[in-house]
Amino acid sequence: MEGAEPMSDSIESRLKEDRKFEPSAEFKKAALVSSPEAYEALYKRSLDEPEAFWKEETKDLAWRTPWKKFHEWELPHAKFFVGATLNVSESCLDRHLTTNARTTAALIFEGEPGDTRTLTYFELHREVVRLTAALADLGVKAGDRVAIYMGMVPEAAIAMLACARIGATHSVIFGGFSSDALRDRINDCQAKVLLTQDGAWRRGNVVPLKKMADVALEGTPTIEKVVVLKRIGRESAPCEMKEGRDVWYEDLLGRTPSAESLALAKKPPAFDAEHPLFILYTSGSTGKPKGVLHTSAGYLAGAHVTTRYVFDLRDGDLYWCTADVGWVTGHSYIVYGPLSNGATCLMYEGAPNFPDPGRFWQIIERHGVTVLYTAPTAIRAFIRWGDDWPAKSDLSSLRLLGSVGEPINPEAWTWYHKVIGKGRCPIVDTWWQTETGSIMLTTLPGACHSKPGSTGLPLFGVDIAVVKDDGAECKANEGGKLVIRKPWPSMTRTLWGDDERFKQAYWSQMPGVYFTGDGARRDEDGYFWVVGRIDDVLNVAGHRIGTAEIESALVSHPAVAEAAAVGKPDELKGQALVVFVTLKGGQEPTKELKAKLTEHVDKEIGKFARPESIRFTDALPKTRSGKIMRRLLKEIASGATETKGDTSTLEDLSVLAKLRADEE
Ligand code: WTA
Repeated sequence: MEGAEPMSDSIESRLKEDRKFEPSAEFKKAALVSSPEAYEALYKRSLDEPEAFWKEETKDLAWRTPWKKFHEWELPHAKFFVGATLNVSESCLDRHLTTNARTTAALIFEGEPGDTRTLTYFELHREVVRLTAALADLGVKAGDRVAIYMGMVPEAAIAMLACARIGATHSVIFGGFSSDALRDRINDCQAKVLLTQDGAWRRGNVVPLKKMADVALEGTPTIEKVVVLKRIGRESAPCEMKEGRDVWYEDLLGRTPSAESLALAKKPPAFDAEHPLFILYTSGSTGKPKGVLHTSAGYLAGAHVTTRYVFDLRDGDLYWCTADVGWVTGHSYIVYGPLSNGATCLMYEGAPNFPDPGRFWQIIERHGVTVLYTAPTAIRAFIRWGDDWPAKSDLSSLRLLGSVGEPINPEAWTWYHKVIGKGRCPIVDTWWQTETGSIMLTTLPGACHSKPGSTGLPLFGVDIAVVKDDGAECKANEGGKLVIRKPWPSMTRTLWGDDERFKQAYWSQMPGVYFTGDGARRDEDGYFWVVGRIDDVLNVAGHRIGTAEIESALVSHPAVAEAAAVGKPDELKGQALVVFVTLKGGQEPTKELKAKLTEHVDKEIGKFARPESIRFTDALPKTRSGKIMRRLLKEIASGATETKGDTSTLEDLSVLAKLRADEE
């Protein structure tokens, strides 16, 4: 048994002064990959013999036609599994109906009020088939776009899988987005149908999703039908149902499907490997969000293979990814990755501190979670809430921990490791992006030691490097840009409706390589240390926010002349958002106006993008050519009293002195 050796010895001996953590012999014994050599052999094979590697690793997926060629590319465009056909939902559902997985739980759901629901693979398949037929009867066809604006309920996953089954492209819009943000995303992808719910539970309150959707729907001409799940019940989340457009989810499923739709749902069509699967909007360096497009086979292959290896899936595991389905982590590691592996996933609806900060740990004890995948921002909040909360629950079922979304500071790593993992559980720190579709960097938990703060080594087929501006690879420990030198199966194929921006944003920095937007270094052992974004994207509490998005939201307010958003280090959120605002003539810089501007950001984007502080200023520091010098603003926001960098291009030095004097 793990606990047989004195705990302190085992922690200290495995977490040496040089900060390397070796998995225990017991963990290794049962691991899928259990030595650095085995990892290296697999990695090498994935690069040298990709056909053989991917054939073997994706043999369980429900291919209808095998591929003729593994890849084909003319950069920046790439195709994978050329010639293959499949239906993604079949790989996630139907293929498990002939194995023991049929009667095993696919999803174990816990609602915020405490209600629970388990769906076996058989039941999940049945629900998806019912919704597929119903959506087909509503007129949804292959290639149509369907928007999903829901909370963390099983129906969100069911809706995604039903779209995949029809071949419709889903676009899940995070439930924290405002009506305006929802409207813009629906219009950008021209969705035909919207699936939403009356409301979602959040910290005991109801987020009125349908009401918010109604505001968006005033400006979305392409939406023909709205399907509304009753999650809360009429009393606390009243809904106005628009005749002819809106239908309750339950009523829709109650209708008898047409024979044709039912036949399609039961035996869904096969689609080309490159058939679009979903669009997910994410932030970039301009005000307009990017519609990252993922296609079928390559995306699924990436999610499938990484889920199995990174989480080292074993029979009997209960795997819990705490991300929201509205972000890519929820797509790849709640829905497509785990389900295509026949895993059992826990899905929790609400906040981590409701009704008290022990909720996560109670969930782990109640259900017997074995693998926990969460974000550093959550870990830092748990640290703040105190060790007493996890101490109240039995966490001995845990065997593996994961982290994603931002760099994990070594303090948070160590706390996670000791207080949650009791020194027993390896931590996989996974680096990836909405655009990469699946995990690119980590340490396979039974194979390689991990180092707190490092995202480890490349995964299969990932040719990744840290380079200088001229493209030359950096020396060990030298900082540079993180780039991926070759296309990989789960990479985004383009940005929806804007291929030019796809080329510009990712493939124009250096010829022939994909630029991640992150800065990093690689140490003498080949381990990657990701520093964070070096473009105009911030990572606030694990949410990716473009500074330009915030700025364009602010300048759309009638009082604002100009705005500059920057990040400052924050103990809890990783980065906090600070905005500098200049007002139009005649506007007074009052407290009330600050409150109004905050509300305005809530409305334009959503509450999660609220600036931590808004600072009024008469002028922003600019270069002589008129570019805002964000580097200086960043320094000022972080409280620096002196300017480190070069100010020779600054137009008016007195602006800096003034900004510092005005510091809050
Ligand atoms: C950051 C989330 C350090 C990074 C899956 C990346 C990380 C951006 C890590 C993508 C990590 C993600 N360590 N930084 N383990 N994981 N990031 O698209 O800056 O929401 O570019 O995808 O998050 O954020 P996105």
